[in-house]
Amino acid sequence: MRVINCCTRLHAPSSIRLSFVRRNHSQTHSYRCVGHGNCSLSTNQMEQRNLSANTVIDHPRALTDKITLIRDAGPSKFQVIADFDATLTRYRVNGLRGQTSHNLLQQGNAEYDAKRQALYDHYHPLEISPVIPIDEKTKLMEEWWSKTHDLLIEGGLTYDAIKKSVENSSIAFREGVVELFEFLEKKEIPVLIFSAGLADVIEEVLRQNLHRTFKNVKIVSNRMVFDDNGRLVSFKGKLIHVLNKNEHALDMAGPLHDQLGVDTGEEDEDEANAYVKQRTNVLLMGDHLGDLRMSDGLSYETRISVGFLNDNIEKSLESYRQAFDLVYLNDAPMWGAVELVSRLFSTEET
Ligand code: TMP
Ligand code: MG
Repeated sequence: MRVINCCTRLHAPSSIRLSFVRRNHSQTHSYRCVGHGNCSLSTNQMEQRNLSANTVIDHPRALTDKITLIRDAGPSKFQVIADFDATLTRYRVNGLRGQTSHNLLQQGNAEYDAKRQALYDHYHPLEISPVIPIDEKTKLMEEWWSKTHDLLIEGGLTYDAIKKSVENSSIAFREGVVELFEFLEKKEIPVLIFSAGLADVIEEVLRQNLHRTFKNVKIVSNRMVFDDNGRLVSFKGKLIHVLNKNEHALDMAGPLHDQLGVDTGEEDEDEANAYVKQRTNVLLMGDHLGDLRMSDGLSYETRISVGFLNDNIEKSLESYRQAFDLVYLNDAPMWGAVELVSRLFSTEET
């Protein structure tokens, strides 16, 4: 891959400029513009700019190799697996923490909304803490999700309340998400949105915010069961939280793509699973280290992983840049991923 310097304009609307940066191995925790010997910015200025909307690539050569492999194999071998909250959606909206599929919900019962908010205030700092051991954190996340699901049922959530909540929400997609989906749809590349949020809410968010459907996009997430009065009575299947996405990847991905309008030509679940498994090259996108496990069930050949590091940047960057092939800092837009897939499968000569 061509490494792009900090003043290069990518395939994005003219107002958007992104930079690819890499670690300067001679200085711990220092970053520089690649190929920018003549850059007039001081290191500090560059760091500030880079931290505002940049991409960290720790091993550009390895990324180049992966791009070549995926491009050579072609779009029929490729799929995208993306987390939803704070990956497809923005972490901050109008300067405030954007809402997630969970916390946009207004149950129509203020007492229960407050109880769920109190859980968020307690558990979210634990979720993003870089110092809690993974086993301990997994238990905490299970606790949080179970308590929240119980409160949604007890508090009498209705489907109408979901629609109204989404109408009044401050959830927003990153710029470039629609363009990404459109490009992938044209190339008949399936997109799996794999979320520890709420499937029914995510569907409503897609409906209301994108104003169109994509036949290649499908959701694996916690799915609600409503009674005849449209009142939530239970959740289907096993609970999905931020740290157990791996357990669900294989069994849910197959049937999912079967339903999503992608013509697999296969009728049963096993064959549909086989269809997804044929797509052994993956672009995985997430904002959480646990999101890396979304592809566990696939025995992929080549995977490019993209991490959105939205918060706790100073403390978490080290682990993110080791774990992901590319790390987008500070709530970056989706144009880098758009650029990446168009570079992978562009019909134009590059
Ligand atoms: P994701 O898998 O789509 O990122 O969704 C999980 C996010 O949902 C995670 O970052 C925490 C968030 N969340 C809330 O905002 N409120 C809640 O009540 C729960 C359980 C999770
Ligand atoms: Mg997320």
